[in-house]
Amino acid sequence: MITIKNNMFHLATANTSYIFFINSLGLAEHLYYGKKLRNPEYDIPSLREKHVGPRVNETSLTPDDLTIQPVNLMSEFSTEDKGDYRTPSIAVSTGRKKLRTLDLRFSGYTSFTGIQRFSSPLFQALGSDQNTCGVSLEFRDPVAGVKATFLYTLFDDSDVITRRVVIENISSEPMTLRSAYSLQLDLPGHDYELITFTGAQLRERKETRQTITYGKYVNESRRGASSAEANPGIILKSIHDGQCYMTNLIYSGSHREVVEVNQFGKTHVLSGINDDTFEADLAPNSAFETPEAIMLYSHLGLDDLADKSHRFIREHIQRGPWKDRLRPVAFNTWEAVHFDFEERKLSGLIKQAAELGIEVFVLDDGWFGARNDDTSSLGDWQVNTLKIPGGLATVSKECHRRGMMFGLWLEPEMVSLNSYLYRKHPDWMLGDPSRKSHAVSRNQYFLDITRDDVQDYLISTMKHLIQNANVDYIKWDMNRHLSDMYSANPEIMNMGEYQHRYILALYRIQKSLAVTFPNLFIENCASGGARFDLGMLCYGSAIWTSDCSDPIERIPIIEGTSMLYPLSVCGTSVSTSPNYATFRSTDLETRFAVALFGVLNYSIDIMKFSDREKAAVKDQVEFYRQYRQILQFGIFRKEVRGNITVWSAATPDRSVILVLYVQTLMRSNCEDDILTVSQADENFVYRVVRRDDRAPVWDIGSDVSKFKKEEESYEVTGDTLKWAGIKLSDKCSGSGYRNGMRVMPDFSSRVYIIKKI
Ligand code: DGJ
Repeated sequence: MITIKNNMFHLATANTSYIFFINSLGLAEHLYYGKKLRNPEYDIPSLREKHVGPRVNETSLTPDDLTIQPVNLMSEFSTEDKGDYRTPSIAVSTGRKKLRTLDLRFSGYTSFTGIQRFSSPLFQALGSDQNTCGVSLEFRDPVAGVKATFLYTLFDDSDVITRRVVIENISSEPMTLRSAYSLQLDLPGHDYELITFTGAQLRERKETRQTITYGKYVNESRRGASSAEANPGIILKSIHDGQCYMTNLIYSGSHREVVEVNQFGKTHVLSGINDDTFEADLAPNSAFETPEAIMLYSHLGLDDLADKSHRFIREHIQRGPWKDRLRPVAFNTWEAVHFDFEERKLSGLIKQAAELGIEVFVLDDGWFGARNDDTSSLGDWQVNTLKIPGGLATVSKECHRRGMMFGLWLEPEMVSLNSYLYRKHPDWMLGDPSRKSHAVSRNQYFLDITRDDVQDYLISTMKHLIQNANVDYIKWDMNRHLSDMYSANPEIMNMGEYQHRYILALYRIQKSLAVTFPNLFIENCASGGARFDLGMLCYGSAIWTSDCSDPIERIPIIEGTSMLYPLSVCGTSVSTSPNYATFRSTDLETRFAVALFGVLNYSIDIMKFSDREKAAVKDQVEFYRQYRQILQFGIFRKEVRGNITVWSAATPDRSVILVLYVQTLMRSNCEDDILTVSQADENFVYRVVRRDDRAPVWDIGSDVSKFKKEEESYEVTGDTLKWAGIKLSDKCSGSGYRNGMRVMPDFSSRVYIIKKI
């Protein structure tokens, strides 16, 4: 609900209030963002900053009111050259002398129900007239010739407020837009911990904490993708209590989050397109739309913040029929056979996958052109008939005959020098033709997808493939980052626009497929999880979270990712042991137990399975299918983190809870373990049983034929489970083995099923 009274705008969601005030100079002073206030309309005198005189050595916006010094005023936007020395949220250069002065003053507002559509192909959050409303405010600087419209949209059910800005050239001269952040959030004080999600390929989105103090913190990607290095989602958490704020961006390109504590101790947060890699020319009467940013507040801490973000993503970001559908269990050929397959081998894998209960068979890299390694053929999206003489339709038919969906890997944005496509259209490759060579990664180059002819080629090629081979599922990969930005596209005269235009083109292509094939399941991927963001989740029903398939290394990846994104979009993987990246050997049951929490996929040579492994995987798939509603859409909690990791996933009514228990290293003569589950409902009585896995305890050590699986099972009241916990039985750790002991070597795990009785 939005209340507008006495120049005060109160944007209220179910549990939060966001308040600003248009002051006598027409600036939007930010007053408050936090727990919902009952009646802020009466509290304006308390909520406003009271500067009764100017601070010496600071700059007042105008001689008419010296008390208004922008650098020390919480506001909805910051501009340059008028006394606000913080990082600007909007920056322009106007006129022949490239003036930077921008002085925007309020010129009106309109309220709306539902959402306001973008005019560009940017993706945005969706909502109906019943659950969404908003307000757009206009500010103008007639001298600079700039109009800026700030759009706030409220998503009541998940306590999210989104913001974006439309910047228009209302002068008769061209101008340059140098910064256009989507969001500015000014907060009082600086007693916050900044949580970012940082990493690299194979170790994406690790939760990284730092306590902020005076100065500037930057979380950014300059790569043309949201990146594995720094996810656009960030959190500020009070160091005193549970209050926390999240911001995120519905955008898949280079982004920048600035957290700046100024000399008066106020915190200035910006989120948007990275202005280091961006610049746009604005002709008279043209406008630039920023991506939509989200902000979210909770006074109850990080778990509540994550729950709300998950709800928002499921309700307002995801679209199409897969939005609420259970995700299928996949088999993926990549870590199973890499490039080394032909039709007969595929038939064997298809048959075996179907027998294991797998629901979608995904043919990964290597099926097209002459692609037998990663040096050629990207762009040649025709089946390699030497490998698959019957064509993709035969493989697809075989999958369908065996009751599975057929999935296909594609990397549409790329081209190899060694490809027919490059030979035919060398000018389609991104790069300045006057240079002899271009920067390369994984032997591949970008197609200039901002060109209409390239877009049309990609859209028609993919549509043809999907239709002809009856493809139900695509894995859309992207395995490098932008370089050599030169485009022959006559619409782009300033390469500072290129990265943004690239994302608009990507969205156009992906949307066109999704709209033509509404039932198509799109799994996005970028060397694992280098483009894991709200933009790629609009039409992507899931994202390949990481190429790291070592279960122990995966723990922090899922933990970090889940603080922003729901498990229903996190692809997880059971692969080969020893792991190719860490050389660590882990049992098949532990690989499964960790992969259980998310969208399950096997990428392992199932033809080499022993009978025990076949039986184990069959049980695993059945178990996952039985509980996947909870594992994909339930409430997720990280209960214990450290040498022992405990996670839980529960139904919203907490009547069923699944618990993962993983131990990294076994200690001799070790400490006792207690299993507490924060999600237990205090008023219920539960039965707790261990999932009967097929972990081979009898294979451990020399004289261990005596080891048996412990059969721990308890009946326990919810409050005991939640607060006191269950004291688990001894681990066998050096004083001899006795029946009932838990045998837990390094990297072993348990899954507990907890049900209300
Ligand atoms: C990178 C992906 O992350 C992998 O899963 C796999 O699809 C390879 N690309 C194939 O080249």
